[in-house]
Amino acid sequence: MMNKNEDLIKRREDSHLGGGQARIDKQHQQGKLSARERVTLLLDENSFNEIGQFVEHRAHTFGLDKQHFPGDGVITGFGTIHGRLVYVFSQDFTVLGGSLSETHAAKICRIMDLAMKNGAPLIGLNDSGGARIQEGVVSLAGYADIFYRNTRASGVIPQISVIMGPCAGGAVYSPALTDFVFMVEETSYMFVTGPNVVKTVTHEEVTSEDLGGAKAHAEKSGVNHFIAANDVECLKKVRDLVTYFPQNANELPPRPSQFEFSENKLTTIGQVMPDNINVPYDMRKIVECVIDDKSFREVQEDFAKNIVIGFGRLEGKTIGIVANQPAAMAGVLDIDASRKGARFVRFCDAFNIPLLVFEDVPGFLPGTDQEWRGIITHGAKLLYAFSEATVPRITVITRKAYGGAFDVMNSKNIGADLNYAWPTAEIAVMGAKGAAEIIFKREIAEAANPEEKWKEKEAEYADLFANPYRAAERGIVDDVILPSETRAKVIAGFKMLENKAETLPHKKHGNIPL
Ligand code: HXC
Repeated sequence: MMNKNEDLIKRREDSHLGGGQARIDKQHQQGKLSARERVTLLLDENSFNEIGQFVEHRAHTFGLDKQHFPGDGVITGFGTIHGRLVYVFSQDFTVLGGSLSETHAAKICRIMDLAMKNGAPLIGLNDSGGARIQEGVVSLAGYADIFYRNTRASGVIPQISVIMGPCAGGAVYSPALTDFVFMVEETSYMFVTGPNVVKTVTHEEVTSEDLGGAKAHAEKSGVNHFIAANDVECLKKVRDLVTYFPQNANELPPRPSQFEFSENKLTTIGQVMPDNINVPYDMRKIVECVIDDKSFREVQEDFAKNIVIGFGRLEGKTIGIVANQPAAMAGVLDIDASRKGARFVRFCDAFNIPLLVFEDVPGFLPGTDQEWRGIITHGAKLLYAFSEATVPRITVITRKAYGGAFDVMNSKNIGADLNYAWPTAEIAVMGAKGAAEIIFKREIAEAANPEEKWKEKEAEYADLFANPYRAAERGIVDDVILPSETRAKVIAGFKMLENKAETLPHKKHGNIPL
């Protein structure tokens, strides 16, 4: 007779097989890792402690009484990434398609509760056919239990969703409530309704990949924040990203003692900006010249490219970067850019990550499309997010800072702690050409040579406002600095702000324009 220890080992082995070797092989053939292999790759070696590996469902309907799988289609537990505690769940598609039963949901909720009580990030690896159809409403209730916890945990612990297979129907709302969504190209998709329903309702013919694959959400919807070519690369990226975060909202991000900075970047930074103010340049080159070498992690790089967001490090310390991107649509702010920037600012503020803003913005994007889709409300999101943020905030104006967009982009008047401008900065209500056309309209019209007059008035306006000194005279910017001084200035600024303590007026919560 098997002794009890052997019996346990056998039970563990059974549990580790999930839905069986044949289904694991199928998963591999599709280019996907198994749920357990993913956990192993995500966490530090031998650090995983499983919770609930013998949990089974209690349903009897539609033949479920004859299908029992220890663990019930989701592996849950805790472990470490680079030595720091994280909680993880990994849905196992080989068990009833990773579908979410009452007990599967309870297992996820259990580790969410632990993550909240102990203040550590939650990472969910999603690979599921959705609600377990045989169980009906208890499965839907299970989803609601998870959504509720996602919402309660928002801003308390970092939450990351990794989509590594199907994620459809209402199931998409758990990832949507978390801070960052990763997707794997070709093998993952997310949609509220799949291609068949789409065809019935709107008569559109679309594949799963085109409708809700990694690229679609990276470029068109902005639902995901990071994409990867395969499971292995994706999990590596998750491991890397969490090194930028604190464990919870009461802590500061970790600060590696080692960092590298190539001094030659102090020279190259001055060569990025073209002489002609209408010629674009890549703001990411400027960002790279200021922060520690190889520390930039761009977020949503394929969505709303007119604004760049991401994490970086200054002498090892995590900062959040928000930058207008003159290389895309001249860096104009539109609906998508405002939404993208605002959500990022709020993450950084929630998790004590100082904000560094690089500004070169000609204004908000005009047009009926933008107005009718609500640029007013969406633009206000970015304004609100910056105004509300209490983390240290520094802005560097590299070139254009025009109109309302100047106010929005972390101006001092909405609470930024320091504003610096380069000598190339132009801080004005609008560009000189447009300004001259409006305020000298009559003179231009009445002139013998209107074109010449316009040019003359444009030059007059530019002389007065196309520089940072009017703003500096009023203290609207704190100093005009050379590009080569930027790194030293922002490092000194953030050091000065290290003990910043600012609280918002007492309230239940604000009412951000959603
Ligand atoms: C129970 C499910 C299941 C589900 C898949 N399976 N989805 N079992 N509930 N939701 C089982 C299948 O019966 C099969 O079992 C195994 O998982 C693998 O499924 P296949 O269909 O063979 O795999 P594949 O061809 O890769 O297709 C994957 C799939 C498809 C596209 C996800 O399975 C599918 O369409 N499933 C149903 C999706 C769905 O409609 N879910 C409900 C959505 S509504 P065997 O025994 O053969 O291996 C929802 C609401 C959430 O989720 C609401 C929250 C508010």
